[in-house]
This record gives sequence, C-alpha cells and structure tokens, in this order.
Amino acid sequence: MPSNVITSDKKLKKIINGSNVSPTDVEYLGSLILKGDLRGDVAERILYGKQVIIDPLPLKTRPKFRIVEEDNVVRIEKPDGEKIGDFMYSSFNTDVKPVMFIHEIFVGEGYRGKGYGSHLIEYAEKIAKRNRIPEIMLEVDRDNPRAIDFFTKRGYCDVGATNTGNLDRITLIKDIR
Ligand SMILES: CC(C)(COP(=O)(O)OP(=O)(O)OC[C@H]1O[C@@H](n2cnc3c(N)ncnc32)[C@H](O)[C@@H]1OP(=O)(O)O)[C@@H](O)C(=O)NCCC(=O)NCCS
Repeated sequence: MPSNVITSDKKLKKIINGSNVSPTDVEYLGSLILKGDLRGDVAERILYGKQVIIDPLPLKTRPKFRIVEEDNVVRIEKPDGEKIGDFMYSSFNTDVKPVMFIHEIFVGEGYRGKGYGSHLIEYAEKIAKRNRIPEIMLEVDRDNPRAIDFFTKRGYCDVGATNTGNLDRITLIKDIR
C-alpha cells in the first residue's frame, strides 16, 4: 500500500488495503483521476502488485446447469461438469413420417423433482423440431407410474404395446408439430 495516501474515501481505502481489485474498483480509480481527486501515478502505485479479479456472476444469475449435445447423447450437467442426467436418441422412418426415439431419459436420483427432467424432454423436442421430425416416441416400464405421469403431463400419449411386443413396457408418443 502506498504509505503517503491518506484518504477518508472508504471505497478507496478498501481498494488500497485489498490484495486484489475488481474491474469495478479499477473503474472507480479511473473516475477519481478524471475528477482530479487522484493522481495517475498514485493510482498506478495503488494497483501495483494487485491482480484484477473478474467478478463472478451474482448467485442469482449464475447458471445452475448446462446442456451438452454429443452425437446422439444429450447430457445435462452442473457448470463444473458433474453429470445430472442424460438421454440417448435415434431416429427412424415409418411409412408416413420420421420419428425420434428416446431410448431413456435418466436423471440422477439426488437431482430428481428439481426440473432437470423437464429441461431434458424440452431439449429433445427442440432437437426434433430442428430436424423437422414431427413425432417423439419412447418406452416406459408399465410399473413406473411416476415416469408415466411425468410424460403424460407433458403431452405424451399412451399408445399401448411396444414395437417389440414387450408386455412390461408401454409406448408413449407426442406429436410436436
Ligand atoms: C422420470 C424422470 C426423468 C423425471 O426427471 P425429474 O428431473 O425428476 O423431472 P422434473 O423435476 O422435471 O419433474 C418432476 C415431475 O416428475 C415426477 N417424477 C417422476 N419420477 C420422479 C422421481 N423419481 N422423483 C421426483 N419426481 C418424479 C414428479 O412428480 C414431478 O411432477 P410434476 O410434473 O408435477 O412436476 C426421472 O424421475 C428419472 O430419471 N427417473 C428414472 C428413470 C426413468 O424412469 N426414466 C423414464 C423412462 S424413459
């Protein structure tokens, strides 16, 4: 800290005594120089040896997750890369239209009920729209009422048996046009 700076400006004092500065601090020093309240060489001495640390985003606006698309796998993960959930998809053509098939949407147990599954299914619909695929199809175990409820609430209709004839599973479809 420059020993010959005496100030009653609390903000300036904080900058002088801190080991790092933020871009806002640097801007503040600039404004003092412009006003003639601080000499440029003194500001330089104040900043000497301090690192400019970019302010992290405030908690409220910091993203809580990101969605990563890799080939036919879509992953939802925390900003540090920890996996939250994912799904795999493929597409096929019926006689009348192309269909996007979601192999399994999965959200890690500790993350369920927090909206991540909704983000994933909305993202799947975005991919289908982007590829001009009018229908999404998936299969769910008949004894998985929570998942069935999750999809039906989001517009997926139970059309009964699966293509492979697996009686333990049902097929759900949604027209997303
Ligand atoms: C189904 C699943 C993908 C939903 O993901 P999620 O992140 O919990 O979903 P959301 O938080 O966006 O929505 C939660 C909704 O699903 C329901 N739900 C379904 N399974 C749930 C679970 N195990 N825990 C909490 N909520 C569940 C909730 O009641 C809630 O209802 P709402 O629509 O009134 O809000 C997730 O529970 C899961 O991975 N389950 C195991 C795998 C599975 O069954 N996959 C589906 C077969 S393809």
